[in-house]
Amino acid sequence: MHQQFSTRVILVNPLAIDAQAIDEAAALLRDGQLVAFPTETVYGLGANALDAVAAARIFAAKDRPASDPLIVHIWSIEQLAQVAIEIPNLAHRLIEVFWPGPLTLILRRAERVPDIVSAGQPTVAVRMPAHPIAQALLRACELPIAAPSANRFAHSSPTTAQHVLDDLDGRLPLILDGGPTSIGLESTIVDLSSDRPRLVRPGGTTLDTLRQFIPDLEVTSRYAQPEAGAMPAPGMLLKHYSPRADLLLFDGPDEAVRATLIRRTHEALADGKRVGLLIADEDFPALSSLNVPTVSLGSLTDLPQVARRLYAGLRDLDATGVDLILARAYPSDGMGFAIRDRLIRAAEGKVVTVN
Ligand code: TXA
Ligand code: MG
Repeated sequence: MHQQFSTRVILVNPLAIDAQAIDEAAALLRDGQLVAFPTETVYGLGANALDAVAAARIFAAKDRPASDPLIVHIWSIEQLAQVAIEIPNLAHRLIEVFWPGPLTLILRRAERVPDIVSAGQPTVAVRMPAHPIAQALLRACELPIAAPSANRFAHSSPTTAQHVLDDLDGRLPLILDGGPTSIGLESTIVDLSSDRPRLVRPGGTTLDTLRQFIPDLEVTSRYAQPEAGAMPAPGMLLKHYSPRADLLLFDGPDEAVRATLIRRTHEALADGKRVGLLIADEDFPALSSLNVPTVSLGSLTDLPQVARRLYAGLRDLDATGVDLILARAYPSDGMGFAIRDRLIRAAEGKVVTVN
């Protein structure tokens, strides 16, 4: 159930921010309404994090289950004390190095933050975004803002205002359009609420960088299958960040991956399937003659670019009407670790290793 709006999109230049647009958005947030806005990772769907009714609107607009907690966005260290308590020293050290930026910390929740924001957990996820529009908005409304990615639940996250509109048109009054986001994948989430720091979600802050500051960071496989019986921890569902089409992920040496993509494309076409390819620039010479909808995410040697284009690429392929996406895997260093995580999820775990 959700309210109907005629959704407005206001263009805002991140380098010359229109104060009137920000004021309008801040007024909506103070009034308990929803506003979508750009961050450096993906677009967020924001509401007052201290207002349970406002936060409930986020879940309704996204069709998000109440078991999946939200990330609270702040713009100052002073605001941190409003939303979190018992902040460990490690958190302060990480904040000094990584904020503002794509790192979310899970801390003990302050009483003022309503249950619904954290899906009833005694913790709260907090991040300070680096995007100038997000910062201007947070500063203007003077509230901590709960904001998940501004997509329908389990869809790919939005990296443009158009993606937000495609998923949520009519479900919120306002979208601030600051152009495509620069990182393209969500923030890295680290849980600091228990004894040992634990990676909850890889993202825009790379594991290598984090490990310099958290040598004992616990990194466990987080590909929980929904059919495994017990309810997985929030946000750990494998089916997440998904395109509409089925996706198969192929991993292995480049030549073997290309040969397999060619063979599987022919097989899928023979089966009457509409198939699309999600590849890298280097694959084009081998694969372009297949003549099926093809999206390249960029060069294998430029993983930040692959990350930036990943969600748009999935959406673009979906828009061509394919029912099967054959995708290549990427190296797992740097941003590659988070890229791999999202592709495995988009594939719902269907990874084919070739050699
Ligand atoms: O980059 C980002 O983090 C973006 C932008 C908008 O800031 N936000 C984002 O939010 O990706 P969302 O809702 O799509 O992801 C929130 C995830 C949850 O699914 C869950 O995995 C984790 O954050 N999370 C939030 N609060 C938590 C908590 N208290 N305990 C454990 N995990 C939590
Ligand atoms: Mg999300």
